[in-house]
Amino acid sequence: MAGTTYPPHHQLRWPHKLGIAYGGDYNPEQWPEEVWAEDVALMREAGVNLVSVGIFSWALLEPSEGAYEFGWLDRVLDLLHEGGIAVDLATPTAAPPAWLLRRYPEIRPRTREGQVLGPGARNGFCPSSPAYARAAARITEQLGKRYGSHPAVVLWHVHNEYGGHVPACYCEVSAAAFRDWLRERYSGDLTALNQAWGTAFWGQRYGEWEEIEPPRLAPTAVNPAQQLDFARFSSDAYLECFRRERDLLRALTPQIPVTTNFMASTCKNIDYWRWASEVDVVANDHYLKAELPDNHIDLAMAADLTRSLAGGAPWLLLEHSTSAVNWQPRNLAKRPGELRRNSLAHLARGADGLMFFQWRAARSGAEKFHSAMVPHGGTDHRIWREVVGLGADLAALREVRGSRVVPDVAMLWDWQSWWAQELEWRPSVDLSYQDAIYSWYERLWRAHLTVDFAHPQADLSAYPLVLVPSLYLMTDAAAANLRRYVAAGGTAVVSFFSGIVDEHDTVHPGGYPGVLRDLLGLRVAEFLPLRAGQSVTLEEPTPDGGTPEGGMTGDLWAEDLLPDRADPVWTYVDGPAAGGPAVTRHRFGDGTAWYVSTRLRGTALDRVLRRAYADAGVRPPAGVPDGLEVVRRVGGRGEFLVAINHTGTDLSVPGHGTEQLTGATCAGELLVPAGAVRVLRTR
Ligand code: GAL
Repeated sequence: MAGTTYPPHHQLRWPHKLGIAYGGDYNPEQWPEEVWAEDVALMREAGVNLVSVGIFSWALLEPSEGAYEFGWLDRVLDLLHEGGIAVDLATPTAAPPAWLLRRYPEIRPRTREGQVLGPGARNGFCPSSPAYARAAARITEQLGKRYGSHPAVVLWHVHNEYGGHVPACYCEVSAAAFRDWLRERYSGDLTALNQAWGTAFWGQRYGEWEEIEPPRLAPTAVNPAQQLDFARFSSDAYLECFRRERDLLRALTPQIPVTTNFMASTCKNIDYWRWASEVDVVANDHYLKAELPDNHIDLAMAADLTRSLAGGAPWLLLEHSTSAVNWQPRNLAKRPGELRRNSLAHLARGADGLMFFQWRAARSGAEKFHSAMVPHGGTDHRIWREVVGLGADLAALREVRGSRVVPDVAMLWDWQSWWAQELEWRPSVDLSYQDAIYSWYERLWRAHLTVDFAHPQADLSAYPLVLVPSLYLMTDAAAANLRRYVAAGGTAVVSFFSGIVDEHDTVHPGGYPGVLRDLLGLRVAEFLPLRAGQSVTLEEPTPDGGTPEGGMTGDLWAEDLLPDRADPVWTYVDGPAAGGPAVTRHRFGDGTAWYVSTRLRGTALDRVLRRAYADAGVRPPAGVPDGLEVVRRVGGRGEFLVAINHTGTDLSVPGHGTEQLTGATCAGELLVPAGAVRVLRTR
């Protein structure tokens, strides 16, 4: 069987002549031509230097099969170029035209329930459809030939948010493509597939390849290994769509880098570890979860994950919003200063370009209540003034471009484990992978530690500490990787429901936690999920019977833990595992592995993490007040400390150097006014 492979990162190519990229999605086709000249003038006023054009313009560029109307795009690109604005030119293949869906109805995607999705929205196509592939290749080639030498075009924006609205297609064409994908994965060996999928269960054995279907709606839970392979296939099917367009463009315009916009922390159905090395520039879209308290921490997590996908190299924020979006239940507007804090937080965490959806707020269509750089009210508006202010900031920060973020610790992250952990019939419906990751990330953010995310099979040797929140699916190779890392002196903290199954969702032999038993020095006799709302108390017994810092509580989960070599550090006082160990520490080789068998949050989790920091020699920076986000970027042009004050009080951190936004000299203390951002160049 061919395993899942992750190509190494190659050097990402970046249109460096731009400096820090600044701009947004520009949809001139939605406006009369008279507006275009004003657009360019306003872009110049705001310091915009890059716009993404033509993302959804297929029906306008090719109004009927093989007939093209490029005149308007010629005029827009010329106008932008005359104004000194560079273009990230899109292939419009996320918006198949109505004529295409009418002439080739097989392109329309089919849901798991068997419903065919119609036109009138966007992203309505089957990624395995040959008719779609032919049509997408044709318009891509036309654009490549016509605009590859246009001086405005510096970047190709292939498609838009692959997998965004249609996670997978379940039609007959997809079913056949899935079977082909499986034949390759299992080297044509149906017995190997039956074995891997555990089809002896419920009599699901396949005697011929043709019997295999996508995991369509069925009477009850569908085979989990089948679901996992279908998720892999679907991510790969979209990747094939991307590759086809990228390869066409690379052949025509090898000098122009190619990207596509990821949705790194929110899109479950694309395995971005497999995609990251396929793009020339890693690009991400991020929208604030507006109602989430301290939503800037979730933003920081998305930015750190994006940088990690880029292998630490600078990346491009291709979309975020100036204020409210239109698609959340309650679309909270950003308050004054938030746009700058949000934008510069992405920059702090490695973005060398900050773009918005979109330039001018639309008057019609589904997104008319989405904020933009130019609001419905025009330029006499707070948002416009903040947009212009940010442009000036980025000009002042141009020396930051190309520098790299300095990480402190790593956290393992895996889309495939996310898929597997959240299939039906797990021990508790309350298990959420994103919650597990976020609740740990949040504590690191508050400790002012910068996090790199890593694939479980990535080289971890550069990190003093590796965090492993609930990594349910772990291959033998991933477990060996973590063992090697700890044995060589690293420190790991692993939480419950990790290392349980292999890539086929088959339980590792010999008892829980499967491939992590020897590393953690323990066995888990039984999972003890808790009732909704139930909590358990933990204490740290001392020789004289006291609990040094008092008790702490966990929830969601407990375990009947049997340490063989690990030392119990905290024990359960009550709940289904009362009297048994809850948190353990195990010396393994030259390193240390911690295990946390319940869900800890907040300051309770801090108490365990602080012990691990001590083992790892990680020292959270001293003297940084709560609510001040501080990240360092280091490069050939100096070292930059970006400090973002998320509170309503003036705060300061120790620092020497020149502040880049105000030009002030800082000798000993950097003052960051309430809600403001400061960037100190320290050498
Ligand atoms: C993105 C998408 C944009 C726009 C935006 C609105 O997901 O790429 O085209 O729809 O959301 O927030």
